[in-house]
Amino acid sequence: MTTLLPGQAEAIADVNALRARISKADSDTMALLLGQAHTHHAWTDQPVSDAILKEAYDLAKMGPTGMNIQPMRLTILRGEAKEKRLVPLMLDSNQAKTSTAPVTVILANDQAFYDKMDRVFPIMPDAAAMFADNADMARENADRNGTLQAAYFMIALRSLGLDVAPMSGFDPAGVNNAFFADTTLTANFIINVGYGEANGVYPRLPRLDFSEISKSY
Ligand SMILES: Cc1cc2nc3c(=O)[nH]c(=O)nc-3n(C[C@H](O)[C@H](O)[C@H](O)COP(=O)(O)O)c2cc1C
Repeated sequence: MTTLLPGQAEAIADVNALRARISKADSDTMALLLGQAHTHHAWTDQPVSDAILKEAYDLAKMGPTGMNIQPMRLTILRGEAKEKRLVPLMLDSNQAKTSTAPVTVILANDQAFYDKMDRVFPIMPDAAAMFADNADMARENADRNGTLQAAYFMIALRSLGLDVAPMSGFDPAGVNNAFFADTTLTANFIINVGYGEANGVYPRLPRLDFSEISKSY
């Protein structure tokens, strides 16, 4: 008989219980998450609470990251804090849509994510030192996994019926200086979140075909 790791029996039961309930998402769910979802540029005035952002994060945090490092950090901005501190740092063409979005979130990566390794990856006691001793590897992992978490977060927001608009059109040094001076955080990208005004979406741009982006061996 194979010996199970601590917690492994619960993990196996979880997988089996899920498979008993569902084997794939239905087509409407796929459409809501990706297939018919759009990036939004205009917003209704329906507010977005921290509670729903937390609900989305609580789902997104279950997405996998390398060595479970979870480097994404959120800075949530509304009202005057957004208008005065962030909007002037956005590209001109991004300013109005950022001002009118009910909430704007700066997605940053904690470059010192390894401070939490003991908690998030206790199975490897020297993991923190491994990153602390190799700045290039730490940055690469922070940026890769923070971006993955950002994508999970956007999909999770869509699963709750919210719309999102990611933006990299801002002054990154300005944002780092305004929000993350004297911290270990670096801005990744910014998302507007709300209930999109359908009239504001842009036409769908072409997506690359599987046949042109893949090779099978
Ligand atoms: C990382 C990232 C950065 C983006 N930056 C901007 C931006 O600065 N301004 C903007 O209007 N759209 C920006 N976009 C939106 C994309 O152009 C848009 O999501 C893409 O064209 C797909 O549009 P669709 O979801 O309506 O099909 C960004 C998207 C991503 C993922």
